[in-house]
Amino acid sequence: MCGIVGYIGRREAAPILLEGLHRLEYRGYDSAGIAVPHRGRLRVTKAAVRVDELRDLVGTGLTAKVGLAHTRWATHGEPTDANAHPQVDEDGHIAVVHNGIIENAEQLRTKLTADGVKFTSETDTESLAHLIARALRDGAASLEDAVRTTLREVEGAYGIVVFDVRKPDELVVARNGSPIVLGIGEGEMFVASDIAALVRYTQRVVYLDDGELATLGADDFHTSTLQATRTSKTETMVDVADEDYQHDGYDDFMRKEMHEQPDAVRRALVGRLDERFSTARLGGLDLDPHELRSFRRVKFLGCGSAYYAGQLGANLVEEWARLPADAEPASEFRYRNPVVDPETLYVAVSQSGETLDTLAAVQELKRKGGRVIGMVNVVGSAVGRECGRGVLLHAGPEVSVASTKAVTNMCVSSAMLALLLGRVRDLSMAHGKRIVAAMAELPDRIAEILAAEAEIEAAAVRFASAEHMFFVGRVRGWPVAREGAQKLKEISYIHAEAYQAAELKHGPLALIDAHMPSVVIVPDDEVLAKNIGTMEQIKARGGPVIAVTNAELPDGLADVVIRVPRSEPELDPILFAIPLQVFAHRIAIHLGRDIDKPRNLAKSVTVE
Ligand code: G6P
Repeated sequence: MCGIVGYIGRREAAPILLEGLHRLEYRGYDSAGIAVPHRGRLRVTKAAVRVDELRDLVGTGLTAKVGLAHTRWATHGEPTDANAHPQVDEDGHIAVVHNGIIENAEQLRTKLTADGVKFTSETDTESLAHLIARALRDGAASLEDAVRTTLREVEGAYGIVVFDVRKPDELVVARNGSPIVLGIGEGEMFVASDIAALVRYTQRVVYLDDGELATLGADDFHTSTLQATRTSKTETMVDVADEDYQHDGYDDFMRKEMHEQPDAVRRALVGRLDERFSTARLGGLDLDPHELRSFRRVKFLGCGSAYYAGQLGANLVEEWARLPADAEPASEFRYRNPVVDPETLYVAVSQSGETLDTLAAVQELKRKGGRVIGMVNVVGSAVGRECGRGVLLHAGPEVSVASTKAVTNMCVSSAMLALLLGRVRDLSMAHGKRIVAAMAELPDRIAEILAAEAEIEAAAVRFASAEHMFFVGRVRGWPVAREGAQKLKEISYIHAEAYQAAELKHGPLALIDAHMPSVVIVPDDEVLAKNIGTMEQIKARGGPVIAVTNAELPDGLADVVIRVPRSEPELDPILFAIPLQVFAHRIAIHLGRDIDKPRNLAKSVTVE
């Protein structure tokens, strides 16, 4: 999704802005641009190109100490040079970069066009530049006032940075629904939509709230509301380093992050497993045992992989706490006028904490008095702040679009929540003890799976030429199958569908032939015999079978077996998802795909 970078200070701005854009590339974009003052005029360079090409277009010789830059992911208008940001006003004084969507853009454009304004792009953002220029002509006391006046006319979501070439000692920033973070340096200030663009320069940050504006100078900043009331902000230190955004010895971020999983899970577990009482300690939940017992249902909400992780979590809540639980795509939730039940614990799951659909679901829940906790990875993110309490994932920064360590930590965190809910109810001490011990061993078991990367690769490449693939699981294996199919389609572009094993015979079996491989999730649990039956059904129709298993299978049943170490059966799905990441990754590599920048996708989807 779109990325914003701004700089004001004593160094040359252009290299800092371009480097910032480079750090935001992982989010996905289709055009890029930068604006800096040059000999008293605004110099805008923007095109439907990658950041490296933009760097060439910008060239050298710019000495500006202030500027703004953007990577765009098209919403209003095609990904063309004209639609790239920054957008400028007719006189070429005001430059605006914008993330989000202005919902009344058409009305604003019609009004401005009727007043004789000539538009040069199809974007919703261009109206902002014209409106700000007009507010200044109409006598606004400052750029900040002009931005404030403009934003009062605007409906929708935005994170914006505005620059007026006639006032090169300030940048004005505003936020409503799209993240904006300020970075504080020594005699310099940064602004970005994501800390990834800042951590190379500073760890000191300030998060803007919705409805807030900031004016930045090189040495200071001040914030206020849309109603012009001053606000005071607390600076925080981000515990993220520049190295987290480099893939060191690995060819791509996805592989690096897969291999970070043992450590990521260790971080998620540290201090949270209570061996004495065989339960989990989740301080961030801020719920006492009485409150924990007051819930009659649990519902997980998330999008994409976060939704599948929620489904896995719901299964564990049902198994251990014997509470009805389910997961629902957050994107659907608010549109179906949901019944919000005061006795349900709602859990919003999101790596980025920025996914607009998830955020909107949380807001809908809160509006209706629902009790909601967050399960997010990015500290200070919108979902995390909106929920106010929850379980931090501690996966560390995740750059790859295809989520690996974050999704694993979502599963582990859901398991801890389920254990806690179980232990305040009827889950026995003995059972809790087995779970705690097995959870503590998860990092080592994951490391064992990753050590077998070459074997999984050998299995994977046999099927790299397939055009379609089924992922089949039942009960605990069902969310694993969905997540496995998601990974494969995201990065290899092979058409992959997940089915519940028993559903195959109700339709999908018609598609099985020698060209339709099926990845079957076969844990050694109560439904092993049923899963063996499923594989036999597929084999009988000539379909190749890739079994992912920790059981001993009859000879000849599967064409390929991917082995998974044993754990407590309830935790199997967490482990079974790992080889499927490797499977998808190796196939995508074999097909020459751009692993970290899959086509059409974005890391954080901050629009509807
Ligand atoms: C996007 C990504 C998915 C991700 C989903 C949820 O669609 O492409 O890989 O699972 O967003 O992201 P979140 O940050 O909310 O976990």
